[in-house]
Amino acid sequence: MSVRAWNQPGFLDAMRQEGDPPTDRVVEQFASREGRNAVKQVLKNLIDSHGAPPPLTGELASYFNQLPDIPGDQQRAIISGQTLFEEYGPEIMLVLACYSLPECYVARKGVQVLSRTGLLQQRPNRRLFQTAQMLIEMLSADGLAPNGIGCRTARKIRMLHGLNRFLIRTDPSWDPSFDLPINQEDLAGTFTAFTAVILDGLRKLRIDVPDERAHAYLGAWQAIGQLLGLRPELIPATVYEAFELKDVIARRQFFASDEGTAITRALLKWLAAQSPFYLPRLPGATVRFMLGNENADKLQIPNAPLEAALLNAGIVVGHAIDEVLGGVQRRRLFRRFGMNLLKGFIAAELQPHGPQIRVSSHLRRRWSLPEA
Ligand code: HEM
Repeated sequence: MSVRAWNQPGFLDAMRQEGDPPTDRVVEQFASREGRNAVKQVLKNLIDSHGAPPPLTGELASYFNQLPDIPGDQQRAIISGQTLFEEYGPEIMLVLACYSLPECYVARKGVQVLSRTGLLQQRPNRRLFQTAQMLIEMLSADGLAPNGIGCRTARKIRMLHGLNRFLIRTDPSWDPSFDLPINQEDLAGTFTAFTAVILDGLRKLRIDVPDERAHAYLGAWQAIGQLLGLRPELIPATVYEAFELKDVIARRQFFASDEGTAITRALLKWLAAQSPFYLPRLPGATVRFMLGNENADKLQIPNAPLEAALLNAGIVVGHAIDEVLGGVQRRRLFRRFGMNLLKGFIAAELQPHGPQIRVSSHLRRRWSLPEA
């Protein structure tokens, strides 16, 4: 049996010094001619462009436009993976907010990058909003078809990462012991937060995802990983491998940090405002339940015994009732929380008169959301 790359001695250490070579080359070329402030301006324009075509010029535009689409033979697997999102979108949003993102904040070195952009503490909903938007665009039907909105979003993220990588790495205040910003190992760790962690979160909510549907969901992400510039050796071939990669990286990277704690606190504050049933400590209890005590302690997530007991009862009782009623009650509890989050995203103004989250009419109907 071949040894997977991440189990080979020294491989992940080397990946901490590798970014996204083709993107890094073009950003470097642009920066050496136009200067650092021009890179900052492009980054700002790109962030502000939201759903519009990215405002790039020169070599950055040429590079962006020639990035490949997903090959046709992968489209079938993608469509099958997208149906899981269509069915469980609100629950996946809940897992994203309460498990995937906080799990990324336990990675002590990676979180330094997020902490530097400052946006997370000041506007915790921004990251959540943009990440939710990304999932909707990539995992909606046709999102990853040639020239689909999801492909454009993935390229934009790849470019955002490249510009940020350049600006952070060339900033004299960046501590090189944190390694190259947005490096391949951190990209792979985040990839597992959108794959293994989402699947694990659904399982913790006792939503049974059959193996073939889990594999199809991973299939969609395998395509997204390519679009984002993740090295092929770091894209897991199976769900089992995705969990293995997640665990290997966690053992190497998960440590307490002030930055992780601060970002988590900001996230919990925003989530508390979206919590159903007037239970502001429910999100903290949910995050602790998802992450497990060891990682929750690293992020100093407060204990909320009453809400934790309610949550457990909700899951267990909901599951028991579902056995009799055929899967309705438990779904309702978590759907309510997930829907509150979606409505929170819809209501969230990123800036005065800023954009609203874009959800297709089809998904709005599926999730019973009001039409835009
Ligand atoms: C599979 C891996 C990843 C995905 C899918 C992803 C996704 C995203 C998304 C959706 C955005 C927001 C784009 C927008 O504003 O429109 C973003 C921005 C960003 N990401 Fe990632 N990301 C990944 C990995 C990482 C990693 C590993 C880091 C650093 C440790 C990172 C750092 C950043 C930064 C600094 C920004 C820009 C934030 C800002 O200035 O607004 N990302 N990423």
